[in-house]
Amino acid sequence: MKEEIIISAPGKITLFGEHAVVYGEPAIVASIDKRVYVSIKLRDDNLIKISALDLQIPGIALTFEEDGELTLETDYGRVVKAVSYIKKAIELTSNYIDSYKGAHITVRSTMPVGAGLGTSAAVAVATIKAYSLALGYELDNKEIAKIGYMTEKEVQGSASPMDTSIATHGGLLLINPKSEEIVSRLNIKIDLPLVIGYVVREGLTAQLVAYVKEMKNRMPFIIDPIIKTIGDIVRKAENAFYKNDLNEIGCLMNINHGLLDALGVSTKKLNDMVYAARSAGALGSKLTGAGGGGCIIALAPNKITEVSTAIKIVGGQVIETKLSYKGVEKEEDKKII
Ligand code: PMV
Repeated sequence: MKEEIIISAPGKITLFGEHAVVYGEPAIVASIDKRVYVSIKLRDDNLIKISALDLQIPGIALTFEEDGELTLETDYGRVVKAVSYIKKAIELTSNYIDSYKGAHITVRSTMPVGAGLGTSAAVAVATIKAYSLALGYELDNKEIAKIGYMTEKEVQGSASPMDTSIATHGGLLLINPKSEEIVSRLNIKIDLPLVIGYVVREGLTAQLVAYVKEMKNRMPFIIDPIIKTIGDIVRKAENAFYKNDLNEIGCLMNINHGLLDALGVSTKKLNDMVYAARSAGALGSKLTGAGGGGCIIALAPNKITEVSTAIKIVGGQVIETKLSYKGVEKEEDKKII
């Protein structure tokens, strides 16, 4: 019997700074306690078989040959997208360690896919660690994050290192594109009782990033100061994290959301959830990720139930979550899959 290796990697939320990070401002991103699980068993042939059985939308299983193109078109576009990250991660890992073997890969997720919670990056990173371990190579986290970033870039055309860094290292990270050390850890443990509200996404990340770019080109004298102010919010928030000041963090989340709305990336449904959360007692709430639907986060110490109910009343789905400091990890419990 071939050994089965199970690796998990966390999802993420962007606490502060999305969109402005594209223009060199800092961002703060955190891993959450929702994870994807990738299991790998080597095969005796050269086939890669992928089963995406539980990606919270109906699953599929498909097989492709080494070097073969994945051309499947189905209604399950988001699953197929997740599968293309696996395929690319296998290819790049195989090139990196100069070794190839067929494998059966099974993916499971405890969070919705394509909602802005970083599932693609988590799937890529977990696949890289699982496949390299299966072939007898122990890559360090720096190498995993690097191959993960290359995977995202190749599948999406462009990407920032934010999602693959957080999926690899976990914790609370400061992304500072202008600094020599782009990714650094905020060395604090803070309990952030969060509620995530989710509505189906109408816009793709790439479209929303392009929209902000167009606005910036059309009226730089208005958009540039907004982007700069988001950067200032992140710098102020970094202090608030070190002071463990939840009230200040909440207040800064509200200002950050207002500016994202001003950039035009929020939607009525996101705003409804943001304001419902605040009315129910959240210290702060904002959209997280690219916007155009997807997720909001609400900081809700002692108000988790109230805020969750308020989000459901305005039509959102609720994902209760906490920050988790675990990055990509080998799972010893074989029962997970
Ligand atoms: O929704 P997501 O997780 O794809 O977030 C995108 C974050 C942006 O800042 C809008 C883009 C980026 O590459 O940083």
